[in-house]
Amino acid sequence: MQLREKTLFYGGDYNPEQWEESVWQEDMRLMKMAKVNFVSMNIFSWANLQPSEEIYDFRTLDKIMDMLHENHIYADLATATASPPAWLSTKYPSSLPVGESGKVYTHGGRQHYCPNSSVYRKLASELVERLVKRYKDHPALIMWHINNEYGCHISECYCENCVKAFRTWLQNKYQEIFTLNQAWSTDFWSQKYYQWEEILLPAKTPNGFANPGQMLDYKRFMSDSLLDCYKMEKEIIKQHTPNIPVMTNLLGLHKAINGFKWAREMDIATWDSYPEPHVKNSYGDMMAHDLTRSLKKTPFLLMEQAVSHVNWRAYNPAKRPDQMRLHSYQALAHGADGIMFFQWRASQGGAEKFHSGMVSHCGSENSRTFKEVVALGEELQALKEIEGTNIYSKVGILFDWENWWALELDSKPTTAVAYLNQVGDYYRILREYNVSVDFVHPDEDMDAYQFIIAPSLYLVSEKLTQKIEKYVAEGGTFLTNFFSGYVNENDQVYLGGYPGALKNVLGIEIEEFDAMIPEWTRQFSYEEQLYNCNVWADSIKLENAKALGYFTEDYYAGLPAITQNNFGKGYSYYIGTQPERPFLQMFLQMILEDLNIHSPLMVPKDVEVTVRENDKHKYVFLLNYNKNEVTINLDKTYISCLSGEIVTGELKLGILGADVLKIEKY
Ligand code: GAL
Repeated sequence: MQLREKTLFYGGDYNPEQWEESVWQEDMRLMKMAKVNFVSMNIFSWANLQPSEEIYDFRTLDKIMDMLHENHIYADLATATASPPAWLSTKYPSSLPVGESGKVYTHGGRQHYCPNSSVYRKLASELVERLVKRYKDHPALIMWHINNEYGCHISECYCENCVKAFRTWLQNKYQEIFTLNQAWSTDFWSQKYYQWEEILLPAKTPNGFANPGQMLDYKRFMSDSLLDCYKMEKEIIKQHTPNIPVMTNLLGLHKAINGFKWAREMDIATWDSYPEPHVKNSYGDMMAHDLTRSLKKTPFLLMEQAVSHVNWRAYNPAKRPDQMRLHSYQALAHGADGIMFFQWRASQGGAEKFHSGMVSHCGSENSRTFKEVVALGEELQALKEIEGTNIYSKVGILFDWENWWALELDSKPTTAVAYLNQVGDYYRILREYNVSVDFVHPDEDMDAYQFIIAPSLYLVSEKLTQKIEKYVAEGGTFLTNFFSGYVNENDQVYLGGYPGALKNVLGIEIEEFDAMIPEWTRQFSYEEQLYNCNVWADSIKLENAKALGYFTEDYYAGLPAITQNNFGKGYSYYIGTQPERPFLQMFLQMILEDLNIHSPLMVPKDVEVTVRENDKHKYVFLLNYNKNEVTINLDKTYISCLSGEIVTGELKLGILGADVLKIEKY
């Protein structure tokens, strides 16, 4: 998304209200030195902006906005609604959130508001209205930042406001209490409801298992409640500034917030990334970059990362020299159009004083970390042209928050199946082969992809069943694994044999499954070789499919473990157990080769390659996660965007090094 000029965004959370004004001028000097062009501000300023319910005071913010403009720095202006002032919590205690045990959270941290509190919503919208009217024509303003990391601390609330709002949400969804009873299977355990008022939130029950339909709807309801808060602010903003982009900073792999649904309300997708510095290459963060880009299938913004250490883990190592640069290039390589940090200047006091900042406590422009900040700012100048370039993947992973919620509700055959682990297993292997991956929501078109993988797709609607069948019938390749296709949107099992919703396309029927205890391993054979497996074993009966691998042990010995089905013009694959990693690597590689899907460039181990492109150029990102220099044999002649030089033959990438090579298309 282009804002005013073609550039990559560079900056961070800027909290000058924590500092004397004399520091602000130094901030401006250092920001210019680092080529900072964009800052997120006013995120936690509600108490400053509104000393009491009747009084607003925008004087400090006026000064900050003017100062930014004078210094040619654009503002990502936050609405300040993430941390209500103490007077609000004291005067309106019903605005405070309540935990599952019924205990009210106290004021004194942040995010201490119930999303369904009418008082919170009223006061937040009054603040936003004033803020928007005041700054709508300010020349520094180019983006609105609503609230902050919704649901990061409070993603569930069990207060009276929420019970009432839940009932209304359910009434809107089901209309008739009879329909709700059906959807929640309330004939089980005498759970039938006769009046809406009888319905409660799924808090602690005597046996620990609340109704699964109720729990699933509660997850949907809480994500929607927070989204309603966001939409309330967005509406006010759009009334006065329809052309200024609006977003909130999401959290990537964040279970509580249905990212695809939220992204529809955002002009640009964003997230905050905090990889652990001691991990060589965090595939979780890489996956979250791809997921965030996939939310809108356009470039995203990295809204926050740490220059060096954070302060909220038990142990907080510093990022090694060049590691922050490499993390930044990873974000760019996966589609980021901007690199932002939390925060500009490390705080002197407060709970985050030991979190690194772009300017550290020593304040020196000669510190190692500030020099790295300046160097990166300089490099991004050379990369301006990648702004707006996109990534085109041939492989899609079906990703659905509703499935995540349903799969991980309690009372399942095993607790060993976690959605992100399952998705992560497949994602990581694809990325180790440097195959680009999009995450695809069930409502999205799948036609652009040659290969769709659906790990642990437990919840499948009839609509999705038809879509997958059409996709494969028309020539697509589809792969899924055990415990997929079991239930509908109400978490009710499809009868007539597993994997209910996917039986037809997979050409198999499963009569029973064995959820193994952690100590067990079993084996299966595939092309004369034995592989270990654990967690789960299906008893598969072939309908139209053929077996590619067989269990060799236990009561399912001789039954298929791995199957392939020719369905219309395409193929679908099923893995009826949790195979050891070498099998998955080999199996995916075989399918990718069949489909002629390869890495854009052959590179040494732990070197990452991605390609961003526009109509004219391809930009090849090369990232070295190794602690040694590597040599890459280039297939063509490129131009290095960073040095401007022609590169051909062998390219050396230093320790934790990164480069971006450009080549004309066609
Ligand atoms: C984010 C948050 C920031 C800051 C940061 C510290 O979750 O948005 O305000 O707390 O973490 O890492």
